[in-house]
Amino acid sequence: ELTKGLNGLDKVVLREVRGSSAEVYLYGGQVTSWKNDHREELLFVSSKAIFKPPKAIRGGIPICFPQFANCGPLESHGFARNRFWSIDKDPPPFPAATSSRAFVDLILKPSEEDLKIWPHSFEFRLRVALSPAGDLMLTSRIRNTNTDGKPFTFTFAYHTYFSVSDISEVRVEGLETLDYLENKERFTEQGDAITFESEVDKIYLSTPTKIAILDHEKKRTFVVRKDGLPDAVVWNPWDKKAKAMADFGDEEYKHMLCVEAAAVEKSVTLKPVASLTQREFSLAAEKTFCWFI
Ligand code: BG6
Repeated sequence: ELTKGLNGLDKVVLREVRGSSAEVYLYGGQVTSWKNDHREELLFVSSKAIFKPPKAIRGGIPICFPQFANCGPLESHGFARNRFWSIDKDPPPFPAATSSRAFVDLILKPSEEDLKIWPHSFEFRLRVALSPAGDLMLTSRIRNTNTDGKPFTFTFAYHTYFSVSDISEVRVEGLETLDYLENKERFTEQGDAITFESEVDKIYLSTPTKIAILDHEKKRTFVVRKDGLPDAVVWNPWDKKAKAMADFGDEEYKHMLCVEAAAVEKSVTLKPVASLTQREFSLAAEKTFCWFI
C-alpha cells in the first residue's frame, strides 16, 4: 500500500494478517517503523527526525551505501540514504524457501549527479518483507551495471536503530571476546556480554551470523540474523553527542541502540554484471519474549 508519510513523502505500508506492520519511505529506501502483532513499535525514530531531503531520516534502518561512515571520500554513510528510490512493480518471485507474503522491492540506480561523485553504474534492489510471524527481513541485491567492464568497491551497513526501554538495562550477546575497531584502532572485547554506560561506537569484526539484544525491562529480545555481512557496528551517542545532534533529542539516547549488520573492514568488490555476479546481504530481525531468571 503506497501512501503519504510526513511532509508528503511517499511511503509503503506492509501489513501481515496477524497485525504486524512495517513502513518504508521511498526517500532513503528507509524502513521507519516495524510493529509486532501487539502493535508495539520495535524501531527507534527520533522525535526530532527531519523528514526532508537532503537530510537523512534519523532512525529506522538507513542504508549505508556505497560507503560506511567516513571511511572513504563520500559524504558520511554514502548517498543511498538520501536519494529517492523507486518501487519495482514487477519484482522477481520471492524465494520459495521463505513463507513471506507482505513485501516490497525498492530500486536505486545512480543519477547523472551521483555518477559524478561515484562514477559507477549500479542497480541496488532492496526487498523489505514481513513474515507471517511478524519478523522483518531485508535483502539487498547489488549489481554492477558498468559497461566499461570495471569492478567497483564499496562498504555497507543496515544502520538499524532498535527501540529499547532503558539503555542501562540492555545487554548484547554474541560479540563478546571479538576484535573491534574504535577510532580506527583495533582492540579485543573483554568480559561476558556487552552493556552500556557511556558512548559506544565500535565496529566488531568477523562476527557470528546471530546477535541478540536483550532488553531487561521490556522482557524482550531482538535477534538479528545476518548473511553476507561479517561486521557489526554498535553505536549509542550518549548524552554529549546527543546534545550535539540537531535531529536527535537530548535524552533519546536512553531509548535506542544501533546494532548494524555491516561490511566495513573489508570492502566488497563487485565485477560488472556481464560476469553474472551480484552480492546479496540480508538481515532478519525477530522479536521474542525472554524471561530472565
Ligand atoms: C554510526 C557510526 O554507524 O553512525 C557513528 O559508527 C556515527 O560514527 C553514527 O556517528 C551516526 O551517523 P550519522 O551520519 O547518521 O549522524
